[in-house]
Amino acid sequence: MSRTPFPVPLGWYQICWPDELQPGESKPLFYFERDLVLWRDTEGGAYHLQGAICPHLGSHLGHGGHVENCEIMCPFHGWKFDAQGRNSEIPYSERVNRAAKLRTYPILERNGIVLAWYHPFEEEPLWDIPEIPEFDDPENWSDTSTRLVEIPAAWQDIAENSVDLAHFRYVHNTDSVPEARLYETDGPRTKVRTVQRFVTPQGVVDGKIDIDQYGPGFSVIRFSGVVDTVLLGCNTPVTNESTELRYSFKFKRFEDEALTANVGKAFVNEVTQQVIEDLPIWKNKGYVTRPALADTDGPYMQFRKWASQFYAEDVTFDQDVYPPNPPSVSRPEQEGMQKFTASARLKDEDQIRADMM
Ligand code: FES
Ligand SMILES: [Fe+2]
Repeated sequence: MSRTPFPVPLGWYQICWPDELQPGESKPLFYFERDLVLWRDTEGGAYHLQGAICPHLGSHLGHGGHVENCEIMCPFHGWKFDAQGRNSEIPYSERVNRAAKLRTYPILERNGIVLAWYHPFEEEPLWDIPEIPEFDDPENWSDTSTRLVEIPAAWQDIAENSVDLAHFRYVHNTDSVPEARLYETDGPRTKVRTVQRFVTPQGVVDGKIDIDQYGPGFSVIRFSGVVDTVLLGCNTPVTNESTELRYSFKFKRFEDEALTANVGKAFVNEVTQQVIEDLPIWKNKGYVTRPALADTDGPYMQFRKWASQFYAEDVTFDQDVYPPNPPSVSRPEQEGMQKFTASARLKDEDQIRADMM
C-alpha cells in the first residue's frame, strides 16, 4: 500500500555542494527514483547529470565511468557519451549508435550549490532560481555551514511544515507559537512571513522569519532580529516517499570572527535540533486526504493547492488515509533502496548528534 498519493514532484533540486566532486571525477547518485551519474568535465569543470545505466548492456556509469575532456566512458566496453548524452564513440567500431542516448538533466550552479531540473516527461525548466545576494558577499556574510539529512517521508509531508504553526509548541517546545503575517502563492513561488518571540539574555525580542520558496526544492529562509541568518533549504526527492534535506547557512559577520563562528554554530545546532524533533513525526505520520482542521490552523488547503502544480503525473486520491509503512512488513521493491540509503547516505539522528558535538 502506498504511503503517499503523490509521485516525485517536478522542479529544481540540489544534487551536491561543489566540493563533493572535482573536475574529471564521476560518482553515482540516486534521486527521483532512478540511478544517475554525476560527472565534471575537464574542460571548464561543468557538472553533468545523466541517467546512469549504459544503453549498450547496462553497466552503471557512476561506478567506474571515466571522464575524458567533455565525455564519459563506460567502464564495461568503453563506449563514450557526450554532455548531451549522445553516444560519441564505440572504440571497436567505425560507427556510433544514434539510438544509444543517456537522459541528461539541465544543471544550474548558483549560490554555492549545484541544482538539477527534474521533470517526469523531460520538459525544459519552467522557472528560474534567483541569485541570493548574501551568497555573493563574503565581506559581510560568513562562510557557508552545511547540514544534510535524509528523511523517510514524502516531500509534501515535510514541506507542509511551512504552514504548520501549531506544532512548534508541541514538537519543538517553544514558549511562543510563531505568528503568521503573510502567506502568498504566485505560480511556483510562495512567500511566508512570520514573527516569533524569542527570550534572549537581552530580553524578549521579535524574531522575523521570511521564507521565499521557488518550487518544491529550493527555499530561502531569512532569520532576523536575533542572529541575522540566511538559510538555503533544499529538499531533493530520493523516491516519492523519501527526501534528502540539504541546508546551507550564512551568518551576518560580527567584528569578532570567533563570535560569528560561535553564534553560527549555535544556530546551526538549533535548526538541526528542530529537524531531529520533527523526524519521528515525519517518519511515522500518515497522509490525511481531507484533514479535520481548526479554524485557527494555518492555510493547509492553500498550501496543498500550490503543491499540486508540481505533479505532472496523475494523482488519484483513492484512500482517505495513506498510513505509514509498517516496519515489520517486508516490501521487496523497497529493500534494496533502504539498504542503499542506510549504508551510503542516510544520516540518522545519532549521526547528526555526533556531527554536532
Ligand atoms: S555496457 Fe556500457 S559500453 Fe557496454
Ligand atoms: Fe518543525
